[in-house]
Amino acid sequence: MSLFRTKSIEDLIRTSQEGKTLKKTLGTWDLTMLGIGAIIGTGIFVLTGEGALTAGPGLILSFIISGIVCAFAALCYAEFASLVPVSGSVYTYSYATLGEFIAWLIGWDLILEYALATSAVSAGWSGYAQSLAAGLGLHLPTALSAAPGAVKGVTTYFNLPAFLIVLLVTTLLSVGIKESTRVNNIMVLIKVAVVILFIVVGVGYVRPVNWTPFLPFGFKGVLEASALVFFAYIGFDAVASAAEESRDPRRDLPRGIIYSLVVCTLFYVVVSAVMTGIVEYPRFEGIAHPVSLALQVAGQNWVAGFIDLGAILGMTTVLLVMTYGQTRIFFAMSRDGLLPRMFSTVHPKYQTPFGSTWLVGIISSLVGGFVPLGRLAELTNIGTLAAFTLVSVAILVLRRTQPDLPRVFKVPGVPVVPILSILFCITLMTQLQALTWIAFFVWLTIGLFVYFLYSRNHSVLNH
Ligand code: ALA
Repeated sequence: MSLFRTKSIEDLIRTSQEGKTLKKTLGTWDLTMLGIGAIIGTGIFVLTGEGALTAGPGLILSFIISGIVCAFAALCYAEFASLVPVSGSVYTYSYATLGEFIAWLIGWDLILEYALATSAVSAGWSGYAQSLAAGLGLHLPTALSAAPGAVKGVTTYFNLPAFLIVLLVTTLLSVGIKESTRVNNIMVLIKVAVVILFIVVGVGYVRPVNWTPFLPFGFKGVLEASALVFFAYIGFDAVASAAEESRDPRRDLPRGIIYSLVVCTLFYVVVSAVMTGIVEYPRFEGIAHPVSLALQVAGQNWVAGFIDLGAILGMTTVLLVMTYGQTRIFFAMSRDGLLPRMFSTVHPKYQTPFGSTWLVGIISSLVGGFVPLGRLAELTNIGTLAAFTLVSVAILVLRRTQPDLPRVFKVPGVPVVPILSILFCITLMTQLQALTWIAFFVWLTIGLFVYFLYSRNHSVLNH
């Protein structure tokens, strides 16, 4: 039975209110901005290129499909967030409701999601940084411009800019510099402004003939691209991590999650329509900065430069949120005794989990330097989709086992919505490559070993 032992929700809420508490200042607006800050990044700025090669102009449908998948999962997330309004994301919620083993599985998936998302975004960041530098006449030796095998027919060894940006972000986080709400809101506004600028300038150059044939690779291509660009939506779960800082978490968290997702879906659909309308999709082959490429094709080099700059800033925020999120998940799991104590040791001077931040930073930076973006995005997606599936299962189980918990936000249409969410997530997972599945199973197997050989015995609930 100890596999299913739970932490009590009342205890969780009490501990979060004892001792040092965070100021409760965030409302719906800030939470929505936080979500958008974590969502818009490499997915829309970079993966759209590969997505267009896979689906053609049908990429527009791919974004709609993965947006719907996320919407269903987001509803489930929102119910969870309104139920257990403490920080720590779904790992903590599931520990309180479904027991240690499921919490462990979800936590282990989230590690895959966050650590690899950092590496993937760093590779995207690198593409735009190089595009901007090229505009200024600066070029990096080709060998150091991308991971091995990232560009067809070109020999590359290491993605140096990707490696360096993660080290920079790690340095900032390890000494305790995280974005304040105000800095976050400014960065998000710049990022959104750049997206709107792209749409407004680009729309005049759309040639509808580029949209035909609309589905050159059929629906199969659309679905495959969906599984890839799903990456673009990852991050709305970060809203839930701000529970302890929000004024009215039970009401505002679900709103923040859902609003940020809706806004991003609208942007993504329009951006992909404009992009594929300006450029014939085969031209995205081997391009690491497809959005600004579209404006270069349109002859708007100046605006393209702004897009590069905005994309770089925007992806930097995503890097900060993801790396931060990763260390906090380690922190929560380690505080519960499921991971070694070093992950929750706080630096005496900087008051941050210094050692664990550097461990995560070094691994993510090396992975970003050596593994191509497409691979990384697929791996991130499989981890996230698995976590979403478990969250949807959790909603079904909880409605049955604990029907009387105070739910301020309830998923509508239970059991249909969570069941659809599970089916949708699994469908997208089946579209990912065999290698991604193998890597995922290896990761899960390692997780099971760690749990049964270490975590189960060291769990705080043992004492
Ligand atoms: N959704 C985030 C991005 O696209 C992870 O960069």
